[in-house]
Amino acid sequence: MTFREDALAGQHIVISGGAGAIGVAVTKALSDHGARVTVNDILPREEAVLRLEAAGVLKDRVQYIHADLTNHENVDQLLEQARVNFGPAHTLCCHAGMVQAAPIIEFDDGLWDQIMDVNLKAAYLLAKAGARAMLSDSVRGQIIFTTSWVGAVPWPDIAAYSASKAAMNMLMRSFSRELAAQGIRANAVAPGIVGAGMALRQWETEPDYRARASKAIPLGYLQPVESVADAFLFLCSPAASYMTGSILLVDGGCSLYPMD
Ligand SMILES: NC(=O)c1ccc[n+]([C@@H]2O[C@H](COP(=O)([O-])OP(=O)(O)OC[C@H]3O[C@@H](n4cnc5c(N)ncnc54)[C@H](O)[C@@H]3O)[C@@H](O)[C@H]2O)c1
Repeated sequence: MTFREDALAGQHIVISGGAGAIGVAVTKALSDHGARVTVNDILPREEAVLRLEAAGVLKDRVQYIHADLTNHENVDQLLEQARVNFGPAHTLCCHAGMVQAAPIIEFDDGLWDQIMDVNLKAAYLLAKAGARAMLSDSVRGQIIFTTSWVGAVPWPDIAAYSASKAAMNMLMRSFSRELAAQGIRANAVAPGIVGAGMALRQWETEPDYRARASKAIPLGYLQPVESVADAFLFLCSPAASYMTGSILLVDGGCSLYPMD
């Protein structure tokens, strides 16, 4: 995508799960366009930094902070530490996520709770604490939630994941509705079946998934990770400044009709 190299200059963006496959690509795109990016993840620092360096992110624009965001004290600490080096945050990306597949009637209850905690509760805690910080810093900022096309389409064996992403879409709309008057916007990016991260792991290890997914993408190929990064770049740019409450679906047509 063509944006000016300084399109995001002056912005501090915090991204949870930012050392994951999509997170690294998003961090690269945002920092390459002038943003300072605080990357959070639960990965050990060495591993996270290696992944970011391998992607070629500019070191002076990116800092890594380890924290498990399913706990609100950790969320508060993340935002405080993020602020020390890079100042008040202008955009928060609630991007951390996990998936596990199993038939719904056999799904493990503990796993259900874990998926809801990582995908939904951590997003709620980060968005809430971040919005409070924006208000006290007088920042007219944005919260971006990473959801998924399966937040609206029931894909087999991932009921907990799909339900968590549907709930995140409504959470995003609630933040957007309640905070618009104070100048804080909220939007979601809903990717399709990306050739990276959790979908690629399933593609490579679950033959049933691969057979189903290979028929499910109308555009005919796995989603390039850069297309997700481009959606973030657009939402963080002034070009999207009138958007709030939107789900930006970037899914190669997966959600158009059932192909399976
Ligand atoms: N890969 C896809 O096809 C796809 C499609 C649609 C949406 N998504 C979403 O994109 C996001 C990134 O997915 P990915 O494919 O890059 O997977 P990934 O597993 O590579 O990245 C997820 C990251 O989240 C981190 N994380 C997990 N729990 C955390 C916690 N408690 N606190 C902080 N970080 C935590 C993980 O360590 C990991 O680095 C997720 O929200 C996922 O649901 C992915």
